[in-house]
Amino acid sequence: DDAGTFYAEIGGHPTFQRIVHRFYQEVAVDPILRPLYPEADLGPAEVRLRMFLEQYWGGPRTYSQQRGHPRLRMRHVPFVIGPAERDAWLRAMRTAVDEAELTKEQDERLWNYLVMAANMLVNSPG
Ligand code: HEM
Repeated sequence: DDAGTFYAEIGGHPTFQRIVHRFYQEVAVDPILRPLYPEADLGPAEVRLRMFLEQYWGGPRTYSQQRGHPRLRMRHVPFVIGPAERDAWLRAMRTAVDEAELTKEQDERLWNYLVMAANMLVNSPG
């Protein structure tokens, strides 16, 4: 039951769908990010990120059912992520979160987490 979770508070599945879809529209045209994605079709990557974020914020646990333990740091090892890649990722995500029209408090809570997680995944000095 996701009642009372941040997932439910910000609108559940449609909100996460909207944010992550918008994020990947930015990735698709970003000269730093696009080359990092191994697959021509960004659709499956979009689904994985959405499922992960939904699970993290108290929604369905589909991510772990399909992918196992997140181990995000390990899963990003194949990609060179320096400050430029982190900043590009956060820029694309900022655009996506802005369009979700969250309250100031909701926005801050989500954004603080995303910045922390993006910093954690930097694995190269650049
Ligand atoms: C996967 C890049 C930050 C969550 C990926 C992939 C790339 C990538 C290239 C492979 C696409 C795929 O096949 O799924 C980056 C870059 C980041 C970043 C450049 C900049 C710091 C983040 C953050 C999160 C995240 C902050 C979570 C808050 C994920 C997830 C997957 C993924 C859940 C799929 C893992 C799996 O199940 O295989 N990322 N990422 N990433 N990323 Fe990131």
